[in-house]
Amino acid sequence: VLRVGFAGAGIIAWAHALGVQAMIRAGVVDAAVVAVHDPDEARATGFATANGADAVASIDELLARCDAVWVCTPTAAHRAVVEAAASRAKAVFCEKPLHTDLAGAEDMARIVTAAGVPAQVGLVLRSAPVFRALRDLVSSEELGPPMTAVFRDDQYFPVQGMYASTWRGDVDMAGGGCLIEHSIHDLDILRFCLGEVRELSARTADFSGHPGVEDLATVQLQFDGGVSAQLVSVWHDITSRGSTRRVEVFFRGGMAWLEDEFTGPLHLQTSAGSEVRACPPPPWVRDLPLGGGEVGVALCAYVEADRAFLDAVAHGRSSEPSFAEAVIAHRLVDASYRSAARGGVPVTLG
Ligand SMILES: NC(=O)c1ccc[n+]([C@@H]2O[C@H](COP(=O)([O-])OP(=O)(O)OC[C@H]3O[C@@H](n4cnc5c(N)ncnc54)[C@H](O)[C@@H]3O)[C@@H](O)[C@H]2O)c1
Repeated sequence: VLRVGFAGAGIIAWAHALGVQAMIRAGVVDAAVVAVHDPDEARATGFATANGADAVASIDELLARCDAVWVCTPTAAHRAVVEAAASRAKAVFCEKPLHTDLAGAEDMARIVTAAGVPAQVGLVLRSAPVFRALRDLVSSEELGPPMTAVFRDDQYFPVQGMYASTWRGDVDMAGGGCLIEHSIHDLDILRFCLGEVRELSARTADFSGHPGVEDLATVQLQFDGGVSAQLVSVWHDITSRGSTRRVEVFFRGGMAWLEDEFTGPLHLQTSAGSEVRACPPPPWVRDLPLGGGEVGVALCAYVEADRAFLDAVAHGRSSEPSFAEAVIAHRLVDASYRSAARGGVPVTLG
């Protein structure tokens, strides 16, 4: 039985724990959630009680009790937990962004590589069935070569509504705003679907008055072969509106679009007409007791990522997305901030 611990007992820790517990109940993984550490005692106790785990007083105690740890603290606190886990040879699943800046993310990747511990990052859009379908559509060349993508990511400024924490309004804790905190997913998935970025230019703006925490970012990306993409990432104050990603990709021979970031569907249009392609999760995920509604759907991508990690730990192999892959996403974030700081000048990626 793999002993699992959680550093942090906030929203994302709950998402992972619900999925891990559902997989344990279904016999899909051989694991047990044994311990949690969160300096907020009420959160730690609530999480521990719901998961049949112990709330422990420190990261040291947490690591002493588990084989694998989910790092679900605010971003600025990831590094200390990852370092401690690596030094004790514990497997580590770290939430994105790895760190508040690129240099820190690179250090963390070096640390887990040197320690040789299983390590994965929570860039979970890669396990979303609709993005897998989009990636397959590109690589199959079914619609011909891709030409351009328009990617819009919007959510309400996440210090309100379902977000019970305010750290995302503090640049020292989050490293920036909507670009690093939310759209690091988008930059990663654009690269996952369209290949390597050669050059980008970006602009950011701050409408809500949190210094250093942009609530609007626009990024123009150039990929190999003339392919381009535009990313618009916005944090507004429309609290009745759920977090949404809308993506349109034009190919020579058709277009594809989606507006549900987990199960789609993927809409296709060609000269021959239109098609709606369902993107269900794999049967083993559908069979899990995840509950219905939006939460159950959103958890599908998390359970796939969590299972990949637990299977990798159990079999001593590596899993994706790795820290090295996350560092590439961080390079795109960092290049975007450097471009924006200089008024949108193009930045070439190495
Ligand atoms: N992959 C995704 O889709 C996704 C979604 C949401 C959040 N995240 C990431 O997950 C991380 C956590 O976000 P969240 O929304 O769960 O935040 P949250 O504020 O809901 O929870 C974070 C918890 O960590 C606790 N904490 C603070 N310092 C700690 C420490 N040193 N040790 C242990 N616990 C500590 C806080 O008290 C809080 O309860 C962030 O890096 C965020 O970017 C990823």
